[in-house]
Amino acid sequence: MSLSLIGRSISQSATLKLNETAAILKAKGEPVIHLGGGEPKSKPPVEALVSAAGLLNTGEVRYTASDGIPALKQAIIRYTEQYYQRVVAPENIIASSGAKQSVMVALQAILNPQEEVIFPVPYWVSYPEMVKLCGGIPVPVTSEDGSLYPRIEDLERNVTTYTKAVIINSPNNPSGVLYPAEFIQAVVEMCEKRGLYLIMDDIYHRLVFDGKIPPNPYSFSKDLSDNSKLIIINGVSKTYAMTGFRIGWTIASKKLVEVMTNIQSHQTSGPASVNQFAAVAALNGVQTSVESLRLKLENNRNILMARLDGFDGVKATKPDGTFYSFVDFSHYEKDSTKLAQYLLDKVRVVTVPGVEFGLEGYLRMSTAGAVKDIIDGMERIQWALDPDAPNELYIGDRKLTRDWTMAVGGGESA
Ligand SMILES: Cc1ncc(COP(=O)(O)O)c(C=O)c1O
Repeated sequence: MSLSLIGRSISQSATLKLNETAAILKAKGEPVIHLGGGEPKSKPPVEALVSAAGLLNTGEVRYTASDGIPALKQAIIRYTEQYYQRVVAPENIIASSGAKQSVMVALQAILNPQEEVIFPVPYWVSYPEMVKLCGGIPVPVTSEDGSLYPRIEDLERNVTTYTKAVIINSPNNPSGVLYPAEFIQAVVEMCEKRGLYLIMDDIYHRLVFDGKIPPNPYSFSKDLSDNSKLIIINGVSKTYAMTGFRIGWTIASKKLVEVMTNIQSHQTSGPASVNQFAAVAALNGVQTSVESLRLKLENNRNILMARLDGFDGVKATKPDGTFYSFVDFSHYEKDSTKLAQYLLDKVRVVTVPGVEFGLEGYLRMSTAGAVKDIIDGMERIQWALDPDAPNELYIGDRKLTRDWTMAVGGGESA
């Protein structure tokens, strides 16, 4: 079959594939614990549901402006004032079908073929593929100190004459780490000095723990004129548990928003009207669901960290936010794809291989689900890996007997 070079270079979303595998196993009655999930399990705010239903009831479900309805832009203006202390105009805003499309359309608006986009490792799985979709070259940068915190000197070293943009996602998927203010300041300054676009993917910025506040990139910028290359992306998926509504947005210079709007108008015509109405209601409504989600996720993070503390073979960096932890399992197995498959096969626990996020030896574990899943999932993982664990484990009324050992650092032996 004759397929495009770009099309053939794009891999399937590892996280979505895992969801499918877990769903198939569950449908067969397998006792799967899903620690791979990328979405909160709580319900969206009731106002969002009522507002969507209200529009449906009118039957007037039509095309909207490609860059979003005025009421959504007004809600985003308020949001930006509240969380970024910055007043933006409607012309600085474009709403899209999820923050995923926001990132994609921003890249399409700025990238020429062969231009490079830098982002720290570990990174969200879609960044390299999105850059490739634009004909660009992804440049993932690993911290030389081996930590999950990017360092400005590592980013600087990778800037070339082809570099067009830097993408920063903090708090980060998959590590949950919130990058310090000094780092964000240094990235803003580096991008302004070198004339690079800076895409801040802030999709998790309200799901932060321990009283921490995400640094505000605008506060470090020396040029907030219409020439600014600072791009802020956000959305309702994670904060309001509205993943299925597919609403995200971009704040950028008027010129960039105009170009993004032109591109988007030929792709989707704009985000679905019903979903925009739901997003307006979520953004303008009482924010109690956000705080209760945040508290639940903080509690889940604490539970997972306590379990990992009692697990000698693994190393974990305490997440500051999100619902992910990125855990170093290399003591047991350096090939993360093999390890994730092993845990799924042996004890029916879904995790995501670190290699999908650019780092081998790690697994991403999600704490978006129930506390019981975290506790039982960790018990199963520990049982599967620890050679000193008892021979048997009960999963419900099913008895598992261990007839294998995970050879430390070297995979399974029968
Ligand atoms: C870092 C990051 N950015 C963007 C997105 C996309 O969010 P949305 O559902 O709004 O497309 C995700 C979703 O997993 C994410 O983890």
